[in-house]
Amino acid sequence: MLLICPHCRKHHDIDEKRIPANVKMAKCRSCGKPFKLKPSGTVEVLPDYAVGARKKTPGTRKIGVSLSKGGVGKSTTAVNLASGLALAGFKVLLVDTDTQGQDSFMLGVKPRAGLTEMVTGEVKPEEALVQARDKLWLLAGGKSLAGLKRVIDRKDFGGELTLAESLAEIDKQYDYVVIDTSPGWDPLTVNVLFYVEELMAPVSLEVMTMQGLVEFLKSIASIQKYRKEVTLKYLVPTFKDDRVTKSMDVLDRLQELYKPILCDPICYNASLSEAPGYGQTIYEYAPGSPGAQDYRKLVRRVAEDDSLLR
Ligand SMILES: Nc1ncnc2c1ncn2[C@@H]1O[C@H](COP(=O)(O)OP(=O)(O)OP(=O)(O)O)[C@@H](O)[C@H]1O
Ligand SMILES: [Mg+2]
Repeated sequence: MLLICPHCRKHHDIDEKRIPANVKMAKCRSCGKPFKLKPSGTVEVLPDYAVGARKKTPGTRKIGVSLSKGGVGKSTTAVNLASGLALAGFKVLLVDTDTQGQDSFMLGVKPRAGLTEMVTGEVKPEEALVQARDKLWLLAGGKSLAGLKRVIDRKDFGGELTLAESLAEIDKQYDYVVIDTSPGWDPLTVNVLFYVEELMAPVSLEVMTMQGLVEFLKSIASIQKYRKEVTLKYLVPTFKDDRVTKSMDVLDRLQELYKPILCDPICYNASLSEAPGYGQTIYEYAPGSPGAQDYRKLVRRVAEDDSLLR
């Protein structure tokens, strides 16, 4: 059964049988405040069958983290969004479609196979998937993706659906599939846009990325002609530095133009650049850092649940 703390709205998945009959009060493990177990009304109690429904959006959500411009925080965002969603209790698959293969390094894992080997059928999906954390699986990228791009290029037709066809075999078991993309525009990025429904574009406030964003929007529009389902749902300002006036100017401009999809910014935070060197997520390396707080906020926005990771 699901208990929801009336103070902080944290969800607790509890085995009803473990609550002794005479116990009338519970203490929230998140905010520490007590609340009445019964009579109902003081706390929200959902039956077992509704627990999953409450926690999950129906079906697998597929989110591509993408922007043609390099170094804007795509991999940092993909890894910390995926690991944050996993920490919040969702089952998550992170797919790295970049030849740089940064995501496995950032998570401190060394997979022997990854996306290329799964798509080309060299190994079975279960051999390509590596469990990086509790509830978090990774399909690694890396140099071998160059070979996969050639496979896509050689197809007479349907090349753009290669990734979608392959992931369709495994994605239903996940709540979220988060895809990290490479900078630029290559056959794999097109494949990602033919697979995901939601796009998240990190926009660096450090450098002038307005031009890059406009170009990216044009590229999305060219795909939308064939595939209406794909939409830019989140714009995430990154590298926000209050001391830099230009950074604030870009943020103001983004607010004017893209308010409905603009997320709270991710600040410039050295811990975010140090964490990968230790193979750790920001929640492991510096849980109290501003970077960790910003990414937790992003997780809440994406999952549309303000009680998560409090
Ligand atoms: N908010 C931040 N504060 C400080 N450093 C950051 C922040 N976000 C990312 N970085 C660092 O900036 C660099 C670029 O980030 P990242 O690799 O995530 O960008 P990217 O868009 O994936 O790059 P590429 O286009 O090459 O794939 C990395 O060294 C990363 O650790
Ligand atoms: Mg990257």
